Amino acid sequence: MGALATAIRIRNDLQARLQEARSRTDELFAIVRDEAIYDRPIAERHRLIFYIGHVEAFDWNLLAERAFGLRAFDRTFDQLFAFGIDPVGGGLPNDKPSDWPERNDVEQYARRLRHELDRAIESALSRPSEGHPQLTTMLEVAIEHRLMHAETLAYMLHRLPIDRKIPLPQKNQWKAARVKSHLVDIPAGRTTLGLRRVHGDEFGWDNELEAHEVKVAEFGVEKYNVTNGDFLRFIQAGGYDNRTLWNENDWEWKQREGIEYPMFWRREGNLWMYRGMFEEMRLPLELPVYVSHAEASAYAKWLGRKLPTEAQFHRAAYGTPEGKAERSYPWGEQWPDEERGNFDFHSWDLHPVGTYPLGASAFGIHELVGNGWEWTRTKFAPFKGFAPMPFYPGYSANFFDDKHYVMKGGSPRTAACMLRKSFRNWFQPHYPYVYATFRCVED
Ligand SMILES: [Fe+2]
Repeated sequence: MGALATAIRIRNDLQARLQEARSRTDELFAIVRDEAIYDRPIAERHRLIFYIGHVEAFDWNLLAERAFGLRAFDRTFDQLFAFGIDPVGGGLPNDKPSDWPERNDVEQYARRLRHELDRAIESALSRPSEGHPQLTTMLEVAIEHRLMHAETLAYMLHRLPIDRKIPLPQKNQWKAARVKSHLVDIPAGRTTLGLRRVHGDEFGWDNELEAHEVKVAEFGVEKYNVTNGDFLRFIQAGGYDNRTLWNENDWEWKQREGIEYPMFWRREGNLWMYRGMFEEMRLPLELPVYVSHAEASAYAKWLGRKLPTEAQFHRAAYGTPEGKAERSYPWGEQWPDEERGNFDFHSWDLHPVGTYPLGASAFGIHELVGNGWEWTRTKFAPFKGFAPMPFYPGYSANFFDDKHYVMKGGSPRTAACMLRKSFRNWFQPHYPYVYATFRCVED
């Protein structure tokens, strides 16, 4: 392919992906009833109105002046919507709805900003040799930042009372495969962490670099995710009251918050109810359980097991018994499609474990990618050679604080592009709203 054809392909691809990412966040705000747009479904986070402005202001603050030399047309909004909240340790926000602008004004800001950016992107990408040398990387940052918000916003809207949302038709034809989990033995071997740049232009965030190999000793890993049914047995066995299963911080958090069961569950008399995105139902026992890192760790300890390390996850997901080249995805090289896992916005909720045999890894481990992120016991930290991204220096570096754990895999609301094996997600152990599941290992 000639240089011109390549440039046109990259231009079309980036522009189409930016539009698609925008439609992902637009569709989320469209399910919020008008009267709920100033709600704060999660106490530690901003009101919903903030995010309408934020996903746009981020793009503007990143690109407008730096890449295109565009002049600000609304500095107040650029700043108001610049930063979200990371709820580690700080007090809760206490702003009032009236502290925020009218929705119309925010939407008008968004329209103008998109229009100006689109014109500038179109013209810059048509003359690639003249523009900012890192324009394509910056556009990838804008696209993935927005797609990440499409997921974290979904967590937030999950907490919004059902009558404050406009329900979308769901295709929940669960065919609960009757499966039984057991430990699968993974022989000792090597695995690659981080992004290996083959062509040199693959996009990855700063925390994905540099690629490196690590040795992994033999271990056993559960074939399926821990389900709501499994977790119910932990509750019935008194797991939440057993001090010995929890480390000091986790126990203190659980006691302080009065947590007795997963955040997505609700007790109604003798019944356990489950909160789906648009409806409540009897607890579906065959779905993976969404829990915090603290709860997942206590469960694993109850069984005399542990959460996997990041390297163990990689080995189970991408390694092969023959020890040949690692795969790009657990199932092989094929781009993630609907047959191989529950991801990329096809569903709002989880599906039963065992639904995606075509997505199994070479070792026969199911649903490692998709159907919920998976907690690891690895603290989020930089790889050797880490350098912060110059135009978004705090993306990872602000979280190298020993207080966040790596999550791998992906949820129903994770975009396909972020299912690449080097992508690392991270959360603090006491944030119970995330689409995070787990499975245990024995080393
Ligand atoms: Fe953000």
